[in-house]
Amino acid sequence: MNTHNKKFYIKTWGCQINEYDSLIIANTLKKNTYYIQTNNFFEAEILILNTCSIREKAQEKLFHQLGRWKHLKNKNNNIIIAVGGCVANQEGSKIIKRAKFVDIIFGTQTLHRLPEMIEKKIKKKKKVFDISFPKMEKFQNMIQPEYNNYATSIPIMEGCNKYCSFCIVPYTRGREISRPLNDIIKHITILSKKGIKEIQLLGQNVNSYKTIDINNKKYTFSKLLREIAKIPAIERIRFITSHPMDFNDDLIHVYQDIPKIVSFLHLPIQSGSNKILKLMKRPYSVEQYKTIIEKLKTVRPNIQISSDFIVGFPGETDSDFEDTMNIVSYINFDMSFSFIYSARPGTPASKLKDNISIIQKKQRLQILQKQIKIQTLNWNKKMIHSTQNILVNNHWKEKTHYFSGTTENNRTVIFYNIHNVLGKIVKVKIVNKKNNIFEGICI
Ligand code: SAH
Ligand code: F3S
Repeated sequence: MNTHNKKFYIKTWGCQINEYDSLIIANTLKKNTYYIQTNNFFEAEILILNTCSIREKAQEKLFHQLGRWKHLKNKNNNIIIAVGGCVANQEGSKIIKRAKFVDIIFGTQTLHRLPEMIEKKIKKKKKVFDISFPKMEKFQNMIQPEYNNYATSIPIMEGCNKYCSFCIVPYTRGREISRPLNDIIKHITILSKKGIKEIQLLGQNVNSYKTIDINNKKYTFSKLLREIAKIPAIERIRFITSHPMDFNDDLIHVYQDIPKIVSFLHLPIQSGSNKILKLMKRPYSVEQYKTIIEKLKTVRPNIQISSDFIVGFPGETDSDFEDTMNIVSYINFDMSFSFIYSARPGTPASKLKDNISIIQKKQRLQILQKQIKIQTLNWNKKMIHSTQNILVNNHWKEKTHYFSGTTENNRTVIFYNIHNVLGKIVKVKIVNKKNNIFEGICI
């Protein structure tokens, strides 16, 4: 069958890892099929939905979206609908039972098999279903995304062994698998030769990364960071997300030794109450979390911290929530991803009695987010008159000498420079802030 000029469309929900997965799907299809990508689902013959199940209403959202696509399929029976991602792993064949017009179900670890699955569907005219967890195969078959900037992300590990009591990820993404060190270094070296200056390492728990090379040498996350830092053209390194439990002294020493690691860290705490942390099966105390941050601040006094919070976890009293608010201001978090607890099917926490009213949950979330917003604004204020390292990634206005770039703490800054400094890291003194953008002067 000649599939020339036929198009695929991908819709993505969820985290950065899902976004990255969608890039892999796109590249795999471009390389192994005749289909080309479109951003307009009306012209696509393959409609792909990459789903997320981290919070509530994932299923409803999925079937709602599928309902819309069903209308397209009613008009054109050649349309293939494929559902992948975390909801696919969680619900499996139940999706096809409820939405009979779905043709393909693929998992978080089988997305690279999509070209074969599509071929099978077209040739055998049968539904295709594969949500298995083949170890390493995904990493080995990853066709790297293209990029057009000076900063990019790459995965270093997948999955999670932590089994926090509220979280669906270990069930949908599988057990932890670390990508071989050589692969990662090779990949980053290639990227650096193409102009990439900043690399963000991706994984559910990057700091539980571990691998052994062919000489039986063990590598931990800290060692991996040290190896990446040796690549000369890579000037900035970030990672997301690390876990407080594996945030050991080795990692603190990396911050001390390697300026390339940015002075900004996302370290999810979830709650400021030890009682709730225990119920969440987060194996650290608030005091241990504080100690990590204090140690980090001794080697990086200006480091800024962001975090994830869950409010309204079963059993969270006013006093537990107060503890959370105390840690919010004590650490002076710069930013947060904060959510109302949502019972996820099959997780241990879903069996706990949810005794907090939705009104109370919403109030708590609002209080927390309001406080963090105040802190973000205070951090912004502190940045005025400070000197920042900016990775210059764009012309602010085309064909002028105004450029824009990002700080280590992810703020956008515009400034003037007579030279073309695109792709360089420059020192800029911040002089002003208008709306969400800082203005600076090169020094
Ligand atoms: N290890 C990953 C976790 C991914 S989940 C990381 O730290 O980024 C991302 C965030 O979603 C979690 O940190 C948590 O705050 C939130 N989350 C996970 N399960 C949730 C649930 N059942 N209800 C509400 N928020 C949840
Ligand atoms: Fe989820 Fe906890 Fe792992 S939040 S991804 S089970 S560290």
